[in-house]
Order: sequence, then C-alpha cells, then structure tokens
Amino acid sequence: MTFDPIELGSFWMPRQSSTIASEIDFAWYVAYYFDVIMFFGLMIPLAYFLHRFRRQGIADKVSAITHNTKWEIIWTVIPSILVIGLFFIGLRGYLMASVAPANAMEIRTTAEMYMWSFTYPDGKTTINELVVPKDKPVKLIMSSKDVLHSFFVPEFRVKQDVIPGAYTTIWFEGNAKRETILFCTEYCGTGHSDMMAKVHVLEKADYDKWAETGIIPTGGQAQQELSPVDYGKTLFTKLSCNACHSLDGTRIQGPSLQGVFGKTENFADGTSQAVDENYIRDSPLEPNKKVVTGYQGIMPTYKGQLQDKQIDALIAYIKSVK
Ligand code: CUA
Repeated sequence: MTFDPIELGSFWMPRQSSTIASEIDFAWYVAYYFDVIMFFGLMIPLAYFLHRFRRQGIADKVSAITHNTKWEIIWTVIPSILVIGLFFIGLRGYLMASVAPANAMEIRTTAEMYMWSFTYPDGKTTINELVVPKDKPVKLIMSSKDVLHSFFVPEFRVKQDVIPGAYTTIWFEGNAKRETILFCTEYCGTGHSDMMAKVHVLEKADYDKWAETGIIPTGGQAQQELSPVDYGKTLFTKLSCNACHSLDGTRIQGPSLQGVFGKTENFADGTSQAVDENYIRDSPLEPNKKVVTGYQGIMPTYKGQLQDKQIDALIAYIKSVK
C-alpha cells in the first residue's frame, strides 16, 4: 500500500493526532531528559575522578575508605524520589490510555493475514480503511482470525496486540482532521509489512456524510473519475490483494496474477477452468471454492464487502496485467 509521506511532527515524534498523544509524549520527554542529565551527571565526574585519583606509582598509597554513610544516603534517596516521580507520570498516561470513556463509539476490528476490517455501529464494513469522527472517543473491539497481529497508529500513540480467540480493546480520540496510517506491528507472515490501513479523521458533518454515502468528502472521491483499470489498480493495493498475489510472476502466498486471464488453472479438487470474468468475480467472494493446485486455501473472503463496481474494476485491472 502506498501513502503520501507522513508529515513530520517534532524532532523525535510523529505528529500528535489524538487527545492522548501529548500525555504520552510528555512522559517520554521527561524520561528522556532525565536520562540525558543522569548520563552526563555521572559520566563527567566519573572521567574526572578516574584521572584525578588514579594511582600514580608503586609508592602511591591505596585508599582505606570503606564507606560514607552520608553520601550513600544522599545517592540512594534522591534517585528514589526521582524514579517514583517518573512512575506516577507514566501511570497517569497509562490509566488514561487503558480506560475508554463511557460514551465511546464502538467499532469491531478484525485482523487477518494481511488486512484490517472494521464494522461500524450501523453495520457498514470497510477494509483497510478506518473512518472516525473528530473529537469523539472511539473504542475498538479487536480480534484476529488467524495469528497474532498488533494495532499501531503512531500519530495516535496507541498500540495493542490483536489475538485469535479473544477480544482486546483500545481507544483513542482523534483531535485533528487528517489522514494517518495504521500499521500491523507484530510480525505475522510474509505480508506483514503490507498490512496497513488508512485512518481518516473527519469533521462530524463529513463523517455523517461518509456514513450515509460511503464517500469520504475530502480526497477520496477521485476514484469515481478513474478508468476501471486505474480504479482496479488502486483497489488491488487498498484491499491488500498485493500482499498475497504478485503481478510479475513471483510466487508469494497465492498464485501470481500476471497474465492470468485466459489461462487454464488446475484446482486442488482435480477440476480445471480457464480464467474468465466469472472466475475472477467468484474468487474474492468464495476464495476456497477453487483453490489453485499447490496453494493453500488461506484467502479471506470479501463477501458483502465489495460493490459490483469494485469487482468490475478489479476484473478490468487483472485482465490488463500481462
Ligand atoms: Cu499482521 Cu503483522
């Protein structure tokens, strides 16, 4: 999936795009500068003492000091107080991040090799595209269909593992109208680095418009003007088809789609068929009906998640890949 370059935030951190981001960054910077001061505060005197009090010859007497109670108390108590302070700064952010506000909007999130899908309160489902209203807390109830994945939106400063057989949750409140990126941040297979999604934080009015029409009022509407082949090309990456199907003959998880149209494929059940429009149409809807010999039936179904127009575009695109 390709994205515009991320706009940089501060020197170390990406932009802050959620209400919790400043809290997390504050804790991080406190710990960071604390460490910098401690490092130089220890290393400079250390270097000085090494030089100043080095033994200069066989006649030099060795120190007989065994301990110094006053200094030992000072260098134990002061760091303890500082570290306890750091703990509470961290705890504050941790509590904020753990407990979702009661009025949060809930979105069911499913991770699988190698895509994200989101089901909204009204039943609408999107693939590799998370759309949320600005200034509204959103709670994700997440599960995985296969292996361990992890949800990470750097600009929101939130990260949570997504595991099979159980639900995990995470919440955030986008506070800037923008587009950002969701990464899978747990290695889950060869398509891991392609397992990304776009996150759109929209003004309330734009969000409502999207909920009604499925069109993102800013930026997303260009797809209507694209030719079927070009629209199919954007869908091919947007829907993560490219995570498993190459277009240059390379074998990944699934068969390469280079020059596939018109080719006769042999299936695991012993049948065979020339690839035509209907075969391409059925493949994302019922992926395990006709599994090409030599491959595993691991493709997720896109049933109920593709519009006819999108399927037409994918067919046009796959036909064009020679
Ligand atoms: Cu899913 Cu990495």
